Amino acid sequence: MLPSMIPARIIEEKRDGRTLEPSALAAFLEGYFRGEVPDYQMAAFLMAAYLRGLDDGETDVLVRCMLESGSTLDLSHLPGPRVDKHSTGGIGDKVSLVLAPLAAELGLFVPMIAGRGLAHTGGTLDKLEAIPGFRTDLSVTRFKEVVRRVGCAIMGQTQEIAPLDRRLYAMRDVTGTVSSIPLIAASIMSKKLAEGLTGLLLDVKVGSGAFMPEEERAQELAEKMVAIGRARGLPTVALLTAMDRPLGVAVGNGLETEEAIECLRGQGPADLREIVLAEAAEMLRLGNPGLAAPDALRRADAALGSGEPLERFRRLIEAQGGDGSIVDRPERLRTAAVRAEVRAEAGGTVLEVAPRPLGEAMIALGGGRTMMHQPIDPGVGFEVRVRPGDAIGRGGLLGVVHAKDEAGLQLGAATLRSVVRMGAAGDVVVRRPLLGRRVPPTESPAES
Ligand code: URA
Repeated sequence: MLPSMIPARIIEEKRDGRTLEPSALAAFLEGYFRGEVPDYQMAAFLMAAYLRGLDDGETDVLVRCMLESGSTLDLSHLPGPRVDKHSTGGIGDKVSLVLAPLAAELGLFVPMIAGRGLAHTGGTLDKLEAIPGFRTDLSVTRFKEVVRRVGCAIMGQTQEIAPLDRRLYAMRDVTGTVSSIPLIAASIMSKKLAEGLTGLLLDVKVGSGAFMPEEERAQELAEKMVAIGRARGLPTVALLTAMDRPLGVAVGNGLETEEAIECLRGQGPADLREIVLAEAAEMLRLGNPGLAAPDALRRADAALGSGEPLERFRRLIEAQGGDGSIVDRPERLRTAAVRAEVRAEAGGTVLEVAPRPLGEAMIALGGGRTMMHQPIDPGVGFEVRVRPGDAIGRGGLLGVVHAKDEAGLQLGAATLRSVVRMGAAGDVVVRRPLLGRRVPPTESPAES
Protein backbone atom coordinates (compact mmCIF):
# COMPACT_ATOMS: atom_id res chain seq x y z
CA MET A 1 0.00 0.00 0.00
CA LEU A 2 1.39 3.47 -0.88
CA PRO A 3 2.13 5.65 2.19
CA SER A 4 -0.23 8.31 0.79
CA MET A 5 -3.05 5.80 0.57
CA ILE A 6 -4.71 5.21 3.90
CA PRO A 7 -8.27 4.16 2.99
CA ALA A 8 -9.93 6.02 5.87
CA ARG A 9 -8.15 9.26 4.83
CA ILE A 10 -9.33 8.87 1.22
CA ILE A 11 -12.91 8.44 2.46
CA GLU A 12 -12.59 11.49 4.72
CA GLU A 13 -11.13 13.63 1.94
CA LYS A 14 -14.02 12.77 -0.35
CA ARG A 15 -16.57 13.10 2.46
CA ASP A 16 -15.30 16.66 3.01
CA GLY A 17 -15.56 17.47 -0.68
CA ARG A 18 -11.86 17.64 -1.55
CA THR A 19 -10.36 16.51 -4.84
CA LEU A 20 -8.29 13.36 -4.53
CA GLU A 21 -4.72 13.00 -5.76
CA PRO A 22 -4.86 10.76 -8.88
CA SER A 23 -2.18 8.41 -7.53
CA ALA A 24 -3.92 8.05 -4.13
CA LEU A 25 -7.32 7.39 -5.73
CA ALA A 26 -5.78 4.84 -8.11
CA ALA A 27 -4.03 3.09 -5.20
CA PHE A 28 -7.32 2.94 -3.27
CA LEU A 29 -9.20 1.45 -6.23
CA GLU A 30 -6.42 -1.01 -7.07
CA GLY A 31 -6.16 -1.96 -3.40
CA TYR A 32 -9.88 -2.75 -3.36
CA PHE A 33 -9.55 -4.83 -6.50
CA ARG A 34 -6.70 -6.86 -4.95
CA GLY A 35 -8.75 -7.45 -1.78
CA GLU A 36 -6.62 -5.16 0.43
CA VAL A 37 -9.40 -2.59 0.94
CA PRO A 38 -12.57 -4.16 2.43
CA ASP A 39 -16.10 -3.80 1.06
CA TYR A 40 -17.24 -1.56 3.92
CA GLN A 41 -14.62 1.05 3.10
CA MET A 42 -15.51 0.94 -0.57
CA ALA A 43 -19.20 1.32 0.32
CA ALA A 44 -18.38 4.39 2.42
CA PHE A 45 -16.25 5.81 -0.40
CA LEU A 46 -19.02 5.26 -2.97
CA MET A 47 -21.49 7.12 -0.78
CA ALA A 48 -19.01 10.00 -0.31
CA ALA A 49 -18.43 10.10 -4.10
CA TYR A 50 -22.18 9.95 -4.69
CA LEU A 51 -22.82 12.92 -2.39
CA ARG A 52 -19.74 15.03 -3.25
CA GLY A 53 -19.21 14.04 -6.87
CA LEU A 54 -16.00 13.29 -8.74
CA ASP A 55 -14.35 15.84 -11.01
CA ASP A 56 -13.19 15.02 -14.53
CA GLY A 57 -9.70 14.03 -13.38
CA GLU A 58 -11.05 11.69 -10.69
CA THR A 59 -13.59 10.21 -13.10
CA ASP A 60 -10.78 9.58 -15.56
CA VAL A 61 -8.81 7.68 -12.88
CA LEU A 62 -11.90 5.56 -12.14
CA VAL A 63 -12.40 4.77 -15.85
CA ARG A 64 -8.71 3.87 -16.23
CA CYS A 65 -8.65 1.60 -13.16
CA MET A 66 -11.84 -0.20 -14.23
CA LEU A 67 -10.60 -0.64 -17.78
CA GLU A 68 -7.15 -1.83 -16.71
CA SER A 69 -8.61 -4.30 -14.20
CA GLY A 70 -9.42 -6.47 -17.25
CA SER A 71 -8.44 -6.69 -20.88
CA THR A 72 -9.57 -4.95 -24.06
CA LEU A 73 -11.01 -7.03 -26.89
CA ASP A 74 -8.94 -7.00 -30.03
CA LEU A 75 -11.41 -7.12 -32.93
CA SER A 76 -9.21 -5.27 -35.39
CA HIS A 77 -9.23 -8.31 -37.73
CA LEU A 78 -12.94 -7.78 -38.50
CA PRO A 79 -13.52 -6.42 -42.01
CA GLY A 80 -15.81 -3.53 -41.04
CA PRO A 81 -16.61 -0.86 -38.47
CA ARG A 82 -17.27 -2.03 -34.91
CA VAL A 83 -20.09 0.00 -33.41
CA ASP A 84 -22.14 -0.64 -30.28
CA LYS A 85 -24.91 1.15 -28.42
CA HIS A 86 -25.59 1.31 -24.70
CA SER A 87 -28.64 2.54 -22.84
CA THR A 88 -28.54 4.06 -19.37
CA GLY A 89 -31.60 1.94 -18.54
CA GLY A 90 -35.36 2.22 -18.46
CA ILE A 91 -38.71 0.41 -18.40
CA GLY A 92 -39.75 -1.56 -21.48
CA ASP A 93 -36.43 -0.77 -23.20
CA LYS A 94 -35.91 -3.73 -25.51
CA VAL A 95 -34.15 -1.67 -28.20
CA SER A 96 -30.82 -3.57 -28.05
CA LEU A 97 -32.48 -6.85 -29.07
CA VAL A 98 -33.67 -5.29 -32.33
CA LEU A 99 -30.75 -2.97 -32.90
CA ALA A 100 -27.91 -5.52 -32.71
CA PRO A 101 -29.14 -7.68 -35.64
CA LEU A 102 -30.35 -4.62 -37.57
CA ALA A 103 -26.99 -2.87 -37.28
CA ALA A 104 -25.23 -6.09 -38.29
CA GLU A 105 -27.50 -6.23 -41.35
CA LEU A 106 -26.32 -2.71 -42.18
CA GLY A 107 -22.71 -3.92 -42.36
CA LEU A 108 -21.56 -3.10 -38.83
CA PHE A 109 -20.02 -5.50 -36.33
CA VAL A 110 -21.71 -5.22 -32.95
CA PRO A 111 -19.81 -6.72 -29.98
CA MET A 112 -22.38 -5.90 -27.27
CA ILE A 113 -21.57 -6.37 -23.59
CA ALA A 114 -24.87 -5.86 -21.81
CA GLY A 115 -26.16 -5.79 -18.26
CA ARG A 116 -28.84 -7.28 -16.06
CA GLY A 117 -31.67 -5.37 -14.45
CA LEU A 118 -30.35 -2.63 -12.17
CA ALA A 119 -32.60 -1.16 -9.46
CA HIS A 120 -36.03 -0.61 -11.10
CA THR A 121 -34.74 -0.91 -14.70
CA GLY A 122 -34.71 -4.01 -16.87
CA GLY A 123 -31.60 -5.59 -18.42
CA THR A 124 -30.88 -6.94 -21.90
CA LEU A 125 -29.32 -10.17 -20.58
CA ASP A 126 -32.44 -11.07 -18.58
CA LYS A 127 -34.60 -10.49 -21.68
CA LEU A 128 -32.43 -12.73 -23.87
CA GLU A 129 -32.32 -15.45 -21.24
CA ALA A 130 -36.11 -15.72 -21.53
CA ILE A 131 -35.33 -17.59 -24.80
CA PRO A 132 -34.91 -21.31 -24.02
CA GLY A 133 -31.22 -22.28 -24.02
CA PHE A 134 -29.84 -18.78 -24.68
CA ARG A 135 -26.40 -18.33 -23.07
CA THR A 136 -25.04 -14.92 -22.14
CA ASP A 137 -22.00 -16.27 -20.27
CA LEU A 138 -19.78 -16.75 -23.32
CA SER A 139 -16.00 -16.95 -23.18
CA VAL A 140 -14.27 -14.06 -24.89
CA THR A 141 -13.05 -16.46 -27.61
CA ARG A 142 -16.58 -17.69 -28.32
CA PHE A 143 -17.95 -14.13 -28.21
CA LYS A 144 -15.43 -12.97 -30.81
CA GLU A 145 -16.25 -15.98 -32.97
CA VAL A 146 -20.01 -15.19 -32.88
CA VAL A 147 -19.36 -11.52 -33.74
CA ARG A 148 -17.25 -12.61 -36.72
CA ARG A 149 -19.77 -15.17 -37.99
CA VAL A 150 -23.10 -13.47 -37.24
CA GLY A 151 -22.05 -9.80 -37.16
CA CYS A 152 -23.28 -9.35 -33.60
CA ALA A 153 -23.11 -11.07 -30.23
CA ILE A 154 -24.50 -10.11 -26.83
CA MET A 155 -22.96 -11.29 -23.61
CA GLY A 156 -22.54 -10.31 -19.97
CA GLN A 157 -19.52 -8.77 -18.38
CA THR A 158 -16.91 -11.46 -17.64
CA GLN A 159 -13.92 -11.52 -15.33
CA GLU A 160 -11.96 -10.35 -18.37
CA ILE A 161 -14.00 -7.19 -19.07
CA ALA A 162 -13.69 -4.35 -16.54
CA PRO A 163 -14.08 -6.69 -13.52
CA LEU A 164 -13.59 -3.79 -11.10
CA ASP A 165 -16.72 -2.17 -12.55
CA ARG A 166 -18.58 -5.46 -12.13
CA ARG A 167 -17.84 -5.45 -8.41
CA LEU A 168 -18.57 -1.77 -7.91
CA TYR A 169 -21.80 -2.01 -9.95
CA ALA A 170 -23.10 -4.82 -7.72
CA MET A 171 -22.16 -2.84 -4.61
CA ARG A 172 -23.80 0.38 -5.88
CA ASP A 173 -26.99 -1.53 -6.61
CA VAL A 174 -27.41 -2.34 -2.91
CA THR A 175 -25.96 0.82 -1.30
CA GLY A 176 -28.15 3.53 -2.85
CA THR A 177 -25.31 4.87 -4.99
CA VAL A 178 -26.49 4.13 -8.54
CA SER A 179 -27.76 7.50 -9.77
CA SER A 180 -24.52 9.46 -9.75
CA ILE A 181 -23.32 11.06 -12.97
CA PRO A 182 -19.58 10.27 -12.60
CA LEU A 183 -20.22 6.74 -11.28
CA ILE A 184 -22.63 5.88 -14.12
CA ALA A 185 -20.42 7.52 -16.74
CA ALA A 186 -17.30 5.66 -15.59
CA SER A 187 -19.17 2.36 -15.28
CA ILE A 188 -20.66 2.45 -18.75
CA MET A 189 -17.62 3.86 -20.50
CA SER A 190 -15.15 1.40 -18.93
CA LYS A 191 -17.13 -1.52 -20.40
CA LYS A 192 -17.59 0.12 -23.77
CA LEU A 193 -13.93 1.13 -24.06
CA ALA A 194 -13.02 -2.52 -23.42
CA GLU A 195 -15.01 -3.66 -26.48
CA GLY A 196 -12.40 -2.47 -28.98
CA LEU A 197 -14.95 -0.33 -30.86
CA THR A 198 -14.59 2.19 -33.66
CA GLY A 199 -17.83 4.00 -32.71
CA LEU A 200 -20.27 4.16 -29.80
CA LEU A 201 -23.85 5.35 -29.51
CA LEU A 202 -25.29 6.12 -26.07
CA ASP A 203 -29.03 6.20 -25.38
CA VAL A 204 -29.41 8.42 -22.34
CA LYS A 205 -32.87 8.04 -20.86
CA VAL A 206 -34.58 11.09 -19.36
CA GLY A 207 -37.80 11.25 -17.34
CA SER A 208 -39.22 9.77 -14.15
CA GLY A 209 -38.29 6.16 -15.05
CA ALA A 210 -34.63 7.02 -15.74
CA PHE A 211 -31.71 7.23 -13.32
CA MET A 212 -31.45 10.90 -14.35
CA PRO A 213 -35.06 12.15 -14.42
CA GLU A 214 -34.21 15.81 -15.14
CA GLU A 215 -33.21 16.99 -18.60
CA GLU A 216 -30.17 18.99 -17.37
CA ARG A 217 -28.73 16.05 -15.43
CA ALA A 218 -29.34 13.65 -18.34
CA GLN A 219 -27.64 16.13 -20.66
CA GLU A 220 -24.70 16.40 -18.24
CA LEU A 221 -24.39 12.61 -18.12
CA ALA A 222 -24.49 12.43 -21.92
CA GLU A 223 -21.81 15.13 -22.24
CA LYS A 224 -19.58 13.45 -19.67
CA MET A 225 -19.74 10.06 -21.43
CA VAL A 226 -19.20 11.56 -24.87
CA ALA A 227 -16.17 13.47 -23.51
CA ILE A 228 -14.71 10.30 -21.92
CA GLY A 229 -15.09 8.38 -25.18
CA ARG A 230 -13.60 11.07 -27.35
CA ALA A 231 -10.70 11.75 -24.96
CA ARG A 232 -9.78 8.08 -25.43
CA GLY A 233 -10.10 8.21 -29.21
CA LEU A 234 -13.54 6.57 -29.49
CA PRO A 235 -16.02 8.54 -31.64
CA THR A 236 -19.06 8.73 -29.38
CA VAL A 237 -22.54 10.21 -29.85
CA ALA A 238 -25.42 10.34 -27.36
CA LEU A 239 -29.16 10.68 -27.90
CA LEU A 240 -31.49 11.75 -25.10
CA THR A 241 -34.70 9.70 -25.30
CA ALA A 242 -37.93 9.83 -23.31
CA MET A 243 -38.40 7.63 -20.24
CA ASP A 244 -41.34 9.49 -18.68
CA ARG A 245 -43.51 6.57 -19.87
CA PRO A 246 -42.62 2.94 -20.68
CA LEU A 247 -41.20 2.27 -24.13
CA GLY A 248 -43.51 0.14 -26.27
CA VAL A 249 -46.28 -2.01 -24.80
CA ALA A 250 -44.43 -4.88 -23.13
CA VAL A 251 -42.76 -4.64 -19.72
CA GLY A 252 -41.29 -7.95 -18.57
CA ASN A 253 -38.47 -10.12 -19.85
CA GLY A 254 -40.23 -12.68 -22.06
CA LEU A 255 -42.93 -10.22 -23.16
CA GLU A 256 -40.28 -7.69 -24.21
CA THR A 257 -38.37 -10.29 -26.21
CA GLU A 258 -41.61 -11.18 -27.98
CA GLU A 259 -42.16 -7.48 -28.77
CA ALA A 260 -38.59 -7.12 -30.06
CA ILE A 261 -39.28 -10.03 -32.45
CA GLU A 262 -42.49 -8.31 -33.61
CA CYS A 263 -40.45 -5.18 -34.32
CA LEU A 264 -37.94 -7.27 -36.31
CA ARG A 265 -40.93 -8.49 -38.33
CA GLY A 266 -41.74 -4.88 -39.21
CA GLN A 267 -44.63 -4.78 -36.71
CA GLY A 268 -44.90 -3.76 -33.07
CA PRO A 269 -45.34 -0.40 -31.36
CA ALA A 270 -44.55 2.79 -33.28
CA ASP A 271 -42.44 4.35 -30.49
CA LEU A 272 -40.14 1.32 -30.33
CA ARG A 273 -39.72 1.34 -34.09
CA GLU A 274 -38.96 5.08 -34.13
CA ILE A 275 -36.19 4.74 -31.53
CA VAL A 276 -34.74 1.66 -33.22
CA LEU A 277 -34.53 3.38 -36.60
CA ALA A 278 -33.06 6.62 -35.20
CA GLU A 279 -30.42 4.68 -33.29
CA ALA A 280 -29.61 2.36 -36.20
CA ALA A 281 -29.10 5.45 -38.39
CA GLU A 282 -26.76 7.01 -35.81
CA MET A 283 -24.76 3.77 -35.57
CA LEU A 284 -24.56 3.58 -39.35
CA ARG A 285 -23.18 7.12 -39.49
CA LEU A 286 -20.65 6.33 -36.77
CA GLY A 287 -19.47 3.45 -38.96
CA ASN A 288 -19.60 5.47 -42.17
CA PRO A 289 -18.52 9.05 -41.45
CA GLY A 290 -19.84 11.36 -44.14
CA LEU A 291 -23.12 9.48 -44.66
CA ALA A 292 -25.99 11.99 -44.52
CA ALA A 293 -28.60 11.53 -41.78
CA PRO A 294 -31.61 11.09 -44.13
CA ASP A 295 -29.72 8.47 -46.18
CA ALA A 296 -28.78 6.56 -43.03
CA LEU A 297 -32.40 6.58 -41.85
CA ARG A 298 -33.62 5.38 -45.27
CA ARG A 299 -31.15 2.49 -45.23
CA ALA A 300 -32.13 1.49 -41.71
CA ASP A 301 -35.82 1.58 -42.61
CA ALA A 302 -35.29 -0.53 -45.73
CA ALA A 303 -33.20 -3.08 -43.85
CA LEU A 304 -35.79 -3.45 -41.07
CA GLY A 305 -38.52 -3.95 -43.67
CA SER A 306 -36.53 -6.63 -45.52
CA GLY A 307 -36.98 -9.34 -42.85
CA GLU A 308 -33.24 -10.07 -42.95
CA PRO A 309 -32.53 -8.72 -39.42
CA LEU A 310 -35.05 -11.24 -38.08
CA GLU A 311 -33.14 -14.06 -39.73
CA ARG A 312 -29.93 -12.64 -38.28
CA PHE A 313 -31.54 -12.62 -34.84
CA ARG A 314 -32.33 -16.32 -35.33
CA ARG A 315 -28.66 -16.96 -36.15
CA LEU A 316 -27.55 -14.96 -33.12
CA ILE A 317 -29.86 -17.00 -30.86
CA GLU A 318 -28.63 -20.29 -32.31
CA ALA A 319 -24.97 -19.25 -32.11
CA GLN A 320 -25.49 -18.51 -28.42
CA GLY A 321 -27.12 -21.88 -27.71
CA GLY A 322 -30.77 -20.80 -27.88
CA ASP A 323 -33.83 -22.12 -29.68
CA GLY A 324 -33.93 -20.11 -32.92
CA SER A 325 -37.46 -21.26 -33.76
CA ILE A 326 -38.68 -18.76 -31.16
CA VAL A 327 -38.60 -16.12 -33.91
CA ASP A 328 -41.35 -18.09 -35.72
CA ARG A 329 -43.53 -18.47 -32.64
CA PRO A 330 -42.58 -15.73 -30.16
CA GLU A 331 -45.88 -16.19 -28.30
CA ARG A 332 -44.17 -19.20 -26.69
CA LEU A 333 -42.41 -16.62 -24.51
CA ARG A 334 -45.73 -15.99 -22.72
CA THR A 335 -45.15 -18.44 -19.93
CA ALA A 336 -46.92 -16.81 -16.97
CA ALA A 337 -49.37 -19.13 -15.22
CA VAL A 338 -52.15 -16.54 -15.03
CA ARG A 339 -53.09 -13.31 -16.75
CA ALA A 340 -55.88 -10.79 -16.45
CA GLU A 341 -57.07 -7.68 -18.23
CA VAL A 342 -57.30 -4.43 -16.26
CA ARG A 343 -59.96 -1.93 -17.29
CA ALA A 344 -60.51 1.76 -16.51
CA GLU A 345 -62.91 2.57 -13.70
CA ALA A 346 -63.71 5.95 -15.27
CA GLY A 347 -63.29 7.47 -18.70
CA GLY A 348 -61.17 10.49 -19.67
CA THR A 349 -57.75 11.40 -21.03
CA VAL A 350 -54.64 9.50 -19.98
CA LEU A 351 -52.35 12.13 -18.47
CA GLU A 352 -49.49 9.91 -17.38
CA VAL A 353 -48.27 6.31 -17.41
CA ALA A 354 -45.62 6.35 -14.67
CA PRO A 355 -42.81 3.93 -15.59
CA ARG A 356 -40.90 3.59 -12.30
CA PRO A 357 -43.67 1.88 -10.25
CA LEU A 358 -44.07 -0.62 -13.09
CA GLY A 359 -40.36 -1.45 -12.84
CA GLU A 360 -40.64 -1.78 -9.07
CA ALA A 361 -43.72 -4.00 -9.39
CA MET A 362 -41.78 -6.21 -11.82
CA ILE A 363 -39.41 -7.01 -8.97
CA ALA A 364 -42.34 -7.82 -6.64
CA LEU A 365 -43.89 -10.08 -9.30
CA GLY A 366 -40.62 -12.06 -9.46
CA GLY A 367 -39.36 -10.62 -12.77
CA GLY A 368 -36.51 -8.66 -11.15
CA ARG A 369 -34.08 -9.12 -8.26
CA THR A 370 -33.88 -8.02 -4.66
CA MET A 371 -30.59 -9.88 -4.17
CA MET A 372 -27.67 -10.54 -6.50
CA HIS A 373 -27.83 -13.81 -8.49
CA GLN A 374 -31.50 -14.35 -7.58
CA PRO A 375 -33.31 -16.42 -10.25
CA ILE A 376 -36.09 -14.49 -11.98
CA ASP A 377 -39.36 -15.47 -13.63
CA PRO A 378 -39.19 -14.51 -17.33
CA GLY A 379 -42.94 -14.85 -17.87
CA VAL A 380 -44.28 -12.16 -15.55
CA GLY A 381 -44.94 -8.55 -16.51
CA PHE A 382 -47.35 -6.13 -18.09
CA GLU A 383 -48.80 -5.22 -21.44
CA VAL A 384 -49.45 -1.50 -21.08
CA ARG A 385 -52.13 -0.69 -23.61
CA VAL A 386 -52.51 3.08 -23.05
CA ARG A 387 -50.20 6.04 -23.75
CA PRO A 388 -50.33 9.59 -22.39
CA GLY A 389 -52.78 11.56 -24.51
CA ASP A 390 -55.11 8.60 -25.26
CA ALA A 391 -58.83 9.14 -24.74
CA ILE A 392 -60.52 6.13 -23.16
CA GLY A 393 -64.01 5.36 -21.99
CA ARG A 394 -65.11 3.75 -18.75
CA GLY A 395 -64.24 0.04 -18.99
CA GLY A 396 -61.56 0.69 -21.66
CA LEU A 397 -58.54 -1.61 -21.60
CA LEU A 398 -55.60 -0.24 -19.58
CA GLY A 399 -53.47 -3.34 -19.96
CA VAL A 400 -52.86 -6.98 -19.13
CA VAL A 401 -51.05 -8.39 -16.10
CA HIS A 402 -49.03 -11.61 -16.43
CA ALA A 403 -48.30 -13.22 -13.07
CA LYS A 404 -47.41 -16.53 -11.50
CA ASP A 405 -50.38 -16.61 -9.09
CA GLU A 406 -53.51 -14.84 -7.94
CA ALA A 407 -51.62 -12.60 -5.46
CA GLY A 408 -49.40 -11.41 -8.32
CA LEU A 409 -52.46 -10.62 -10.43
CA GLN A 410 -53.91 -8.50 -7.63
CA LEU A 411 -50.65 -6.65 -7.12
CA GLY A 412 -50.17 -6.14 -10.86
CA ALA A 413 -53.74 -4.89 -11.37
CA ALA A 414 -53.43 -2.41 -8.49
CA THR A 415 -50.10 -1.19 -9.92
CA LEU A 416 -51.48 -0.75 -13.41
CA ARG A 417 -54.46 1.22 -12.09
CA SER A 418 -52.20 3.47 -10.02
CA VAL A 419 -49.63 4.23 -12.75
CA VAL A 420 -52.27 5.36 -15.26
CA ARG A 421 -53.27 8.86 -14.15
CA MET A 422 -56.50 9.99 -15.75
CA GLY A 423 -57.74 13.52 -16.43
CA ALA A 424 -60.96 14.87 -17.83
CA ALA A 425 -61.97 14.27 -21.44
CA GLY A 426 -60.29 16.89 -23.62
CA ASP A 427 -57.41 17.64 -21.20
CA VAL A 428 -54.26 18.58 -23.08
CA VAL A 429 -51.24 16.42 -22.32
CA VAL A 430 -47.72 17.73 -22.69
CA ARG A 431 -45.26 14.90 -23.02
CA ARG A 432 -41.57 14.76 -23.62
CA PRO A 433 -40.59 14.20 -27.27
CA LEU A 434 -39.55 10.58 -27.78
CA LEU A 435 -36.28 11.65 -29.40
CA GLY A 436 -34.64 14.50 -27.54
CA ARG A 437 -31.32 16.23 -27.93
CA ARG A 438 -28.23 14.81 -29.58
CA VAL A 439 -24.75 15.24 -28.08
CA PRO A 440 -22.99 16.78 -29.91
CA PRO A 441 -25.93 18.66 -31.47
CA THR A 442 -24.61 18.18 -35.01
CA GLU A 443 -21.64 16.46 -36.55
CA SER A 444 -18.33 17.67 -35.20
CA PRO A 445 -14.85 17.06 -36.67
CA ALA A 446 -14.23 14.43 -33.96
CA GLU A 447 -16.94 12.26 -35.54
CA SER A 448 -15.26 11.97 -38.88
N1 URA B 1 -25.48 0.94 -16.64
C1 URA B 1 -24.19 0.65 -16.31
O1 URA B 1 -23.53 -0.11 -16.99
N2 URA B 1 -23.69 1.23 -15.22
C2 URA B 1 -24.37 2.09 -14.44
O2 URA B 1 -23.83 2.57 -13.49
C3 URA B 1 -25.71 2.38 -14.79
C4 URA B 1 -26.26 1.80 -15.92
